[in-house]
Amino acid sequence: MFSLVGKIAIVTGAASGIGLAVAERFLAAGADVTGLDRSPKFGRSFPCIQGDVADESQLAAAFDGVAAQHGRLDIVVNNAGIQPLGVGFADLTPQLLERTFAINTHGVALGIKHAARHLGHGGRIVNTGSFVGTIGVPGGSAYAASKAAVIHLTRLAAVELAPRGITVNCVCPGTVATPAVLGIPNNPEIPFAESRTPLGRLATPGEVAAAFHFLASDEAGYITGAILPVDGGITAGWERYDLTPPDESIWKA
Ligand SMILES: NC(=O)c1ccc[n+]([C@@H]2O[C@H](COP(=O)([O-])OP(=O)(O)OC[C@H]3O[C@@H](n4cnc5c(N)ncnc54)[C@H](O)[C@@H]3O)[C@@H](O)[C@H]2O)c1
Repeated sequence: MFSLVGKIAIVTGAASGIGLAVAERFLAAGADVTGLDRSPKFGRSFPCIQGDVADESQLAAAFDGVAAQHGRLDIVVNNAGIQPLGVGFADLTPQLLERTFAINTHGVALGIKHAARHLGHGGRIVNTGSFVGTIGVPGGSAYAASKAAVIHLTRLAAVELAPRGITVNCVCPGTVATPAVLGIPNNPEIPFAESRTPLGRLATPGEVAAAFHFLASDEAGYITGAILPVDGGITAGWERYDLTPPDESIWKA
C-alpha cells in the first residue's frame, strides 16, 4: 500500500527538516529521489543538487536534469522555504517581503511551472504550506502571506493541470520540530505551540512526511486541490469559548 516503487521524485529543501524526512520516506517507499537545496550540507543517502528555488534558471535546470537522467518525472515536492516569523507590519520592509515571496511563493509557482513540463498522467505535485497561511497570527506579515499564496497556487494549479491527470495538493503543517524551529535559541514558539495545540506537542518531521507520502501515492489519485492540515488541531478551533449554557426551555417544546 502507498508504494512508490519506480517513481522518480524531486524534493526541494531536502537537506533539512521536513524536506529531508519526505525524501527519506519516499526512498523507503521505493522511489528514486533527488533533492534540490541551496545548502551544501548534504551527505545523504540520496543525490542532492545544489540550487536556489528562487532562481528560475537553477530550478528549471535541476528539474530538466533529473527528467533527462530518468526519462521522466513522477513526483515533485515544492517544500523549500524560509520562516521569518515574528515580524509585525511595523517592521516590515520591501526586502523582507521580496525575499520571502521569492523563495516561498515564486519558488513554488515556478516549481509547479517546471514540474508540469515533465510530469505525465498520474503525476503528483505536493506543496508545503503552513497553518499560518490559513489563520491570522501577529508577526506573520510576510511569511504567513507567502504561505497563503502557496495555498491558492495549489488550487489554481490543481484545476489547470487536472485535464492532464496531474494532481496538485498542499500540506499545511503546524509547528514542527525541525532545525528551523529548534535552532532558534529559547524559541518562545515552542512552549506557545505546545500549550495552544490541542494535541499538546509539536509535530515530528516524520509525521508531516507521512501526509506527503499519501498524497504522492497512486492511491491519492482522486484528491486534487486539497489543503491538508497536519497541525495537531491548532486550526480546528479555539481551546476556549466563554458561554452561558441555555435554559432548558430552548429545546423543550
Ligand atoms: N518547521 C515548521 O514548524 C514549519 C511549519 C509550517 C511550514 N513549514 C514549512 O516547511 C518547509 C520546510 O521547513 P523546515 O522546518 O523543514 O525548515 P528547515 O530550515 O529545516 O529546512 C528548509 C530547507 O530548505 C532549504 N532552502 C531554503 N531556502 C532555499 C532556497 N531558496 N532554495 C533551495 N533550498 C532552500 C534550506 O537550505 C533547508 O535545507 C518550509 O517551506 C517551511 O515554511 C515549516
